[in-house]
Amino acid sequence: MLTLLFLLVSSSKMAPMMLTLVSKAQSGRILTEEELEKLKTDQILVSEFKQQKLEKEAQKNWDLFYKRNSTNFFKDRHWTTREFEELKACREFDAQKLVLLEAGCGVGNCIFPLLEEDANIFVYACDFSPRAVEFVKQNPLYCSERCKAFQCDLTKDDLRNSVPAESVDVVTLIFVLSAIHPEKMQMALNNIYRVLKPGGIVLFRDYGLYDHAMLRFKSASKLGENFYVRQDGTRSFFFSTEMLMDLFMGAGFQSLVNEYVMRETVNRKEGLCVPRVFVQSKFRKPDQ
Ligand SMILES: C[S@@+](CC[C@H](N)C(=O)[O-])C[C@H]1O[C@@H](n2cnc3c(N)ncnc32)[C@H](O)[C@@H]1O
Repeated sequence: MLTLLFLLVSSSKMAPMMLTLVSKAQSGRILTEEELEKLKTDQILVSEFKQQKLEKEAQKNWDLFYKRNSTNFFKDRHWTTREFEELKACREFDAQKLVLLEAGCGVGNCIFPLLEEDANIFVYACDFSPRAVEFVKQNPLYCSERCKAFQCDLTKDDLRNSVPAESVDVVTLIFVLSAIHPEKMQMALNNIYRVLKPGGIVLFRDYGLYDHAMLRFKSASKLGENFYVRQDGTRSFFFSTEMLMDLFMGAGFQSLVNEYVMRETVNRKEGLCVPRVFVQSKFRKPDQ
């Protein structure tokens, strides 16, 4: 079922013919015949040896990503408070301090807009790339009274070594779970569960099944079902809402929202249409 539909017309002089359509839906994107055929024929998997190497070097590959791109790759994510009103509304009283954990923080594109907007927020931020964590600490908006950035592999290191158990109100998990091997996703969620307060929530956004990026992978990039490797060795999984629900339920969460966000950018002049698919969800740790 389609729950929302709105239209944005680009005002940029460079792209006067660009239209972006955004919709939220319970069911996923329907593929064209051509796309179905591409996915059906693309069945050869990367060798087991190379897959194991990629897993062993996951941290190194992300660290090299930040060595190459420093803080210039991702844009600041100013949409988080619009899309996730809990970031403002989940306080019982206005002056209540909100404790947030940005799991897989990268260089802080998600946390710094929040720290600027909200004076009453304390942010834990972790990533397994030491370079990314260092970039966060070097940001002029970083200060130890309001943030604590630390290195942590969500699939291995107990978050409770840096964050008190059951102390966090909101966890943001933005384009991170897709970078983790599907067999280890559950461990990452169990880890997050332990530091969330009862009643605390996870705000999730990541790549959805049949996103444009999934269909653009060349052959010999496939690691498994809906799982691919990029040229630089970083990996990306594409989620169905069903699979995501199973993962979160498996860790003990309740589902509040779990839907596809579909964005179609149409360049009418060049006849191009880029269908992006994301999954946007909210999961809650039950009260005790
Ligand atoms: C696409 S970036 C997203 C960064 C940030 N959340 C944002 O919204 O800009 C994915 C991040 O996940 C981190 N990551 C991947 N696997 C991880 C793991 N097992 N533990 C901790 N961080 C991980 C990577 O180092 C990378 O910084």
